Amino acid sequence: MTVLEDSTAQKTTGQRDHAHHTGTAPAYFSVWDIHAYYGESYIVQGVSFNVHEGEILALLGRNGAGKTSTLRAIARLDDPQITHGEVWLDHQHIHLMKAHEAAIAGIQLVPEDRRIIPGLTVEENIQLAQIVEPIGWSLDRIYELFPRLGERRKQEGVTLSGGEQQMLAIARALSRDIKVLLLDEPYEGLAPVIVDEIEKTLNIIKEQGITTVIVEQNAVRALKLADRAVILDTGTVVFDGTAQEVLENEELRAEYLAI
Ligand SMILES: Nc1ncnc2c1ncn2[C@@H]1O[C@H](COP(=O)(O)OP(=O)(O)O)[C@@H](O)[C@H]1O
Ligand SMILES: [Mg+2]
Repeated sequence: MTVLEDSTAQKTTGQRDHAHHTGTAPAYFSVWDIHAYYGESYIVQGVSFNVHEGEILALLGRNGAGKTSTLRAIARLDDPQITHGEVWLDHQHIHLMKAHEAAIAGIQLVPEDRRIIPGLTVEENIQLAQIVEPIGWSLDRIYELFPRLGERRKQEGVTLSGGEQQMLAIARALSRDIKVLLLDEPYEGLAPVIVDEIEKTLNIIKEQGITTVIVEQNAVRALKLADRAVILDTGTVVFDGTAQEVLENEELRAEYLAI
């Protein structure tokens, strides 16, 4: 990180700067004007949104709109690199952190490929996520939420069905001390009944006060789950409003979501 780390000294008042720019105090989880690059490729071109604690935000847009890149930038992965902008979670300056620090601060990204570790059982996959403090949900609590994982806890993680692997990936995120769950296409390749099951667990996770940002190609399903929606197009925000507004706006859906 060049630009951000060089300006660390100036950023001590970042929170006040943010309030100044938006005219309000920062929201619980706030992404403010982030710009990010893969090498020379300018991909995230000024994305901003606020999420209240315990809310579910659907982050939507066509293929290549920049959804995955936005999630990766927020989680502070090496690529894409943020060159401008701020990410605040509960008064913590995530934009100045490395990926492992952002994870400790409570940001957990469940990537599209789910990252189940081969050669480890379901339970070992979860336990591996619990090695680093601070620890989140216990095994018992996780198995209560996902009884299928409890039944298969001695089975190798990669031999699970697609839906069960998605549950395991979410379980690993919960086993850290999580505040914000970033989900990249969790329903991809799953049968509708399995999507129903995962949706139910996401509602339970919400009831626990965890904030979720869900990226999904299955926009209708995501919108029915979400409170609010942000639509991206070529790395910028083209809509920010309630999920209901998107469901009711045929023009918007046709233009940016092709549904
Ligand atoms: N590692 C990368 N290097 C360069 N460009 C990338 C990389 N990953 C994605 N992109 C480009 O960034 C743009 C946004 O991609 P992505 O964030 O994956 O979109 P989405 O998740 O909305 O489909 C696309 O044009 C894609 O080709
Ligand atoms: Mg993507």
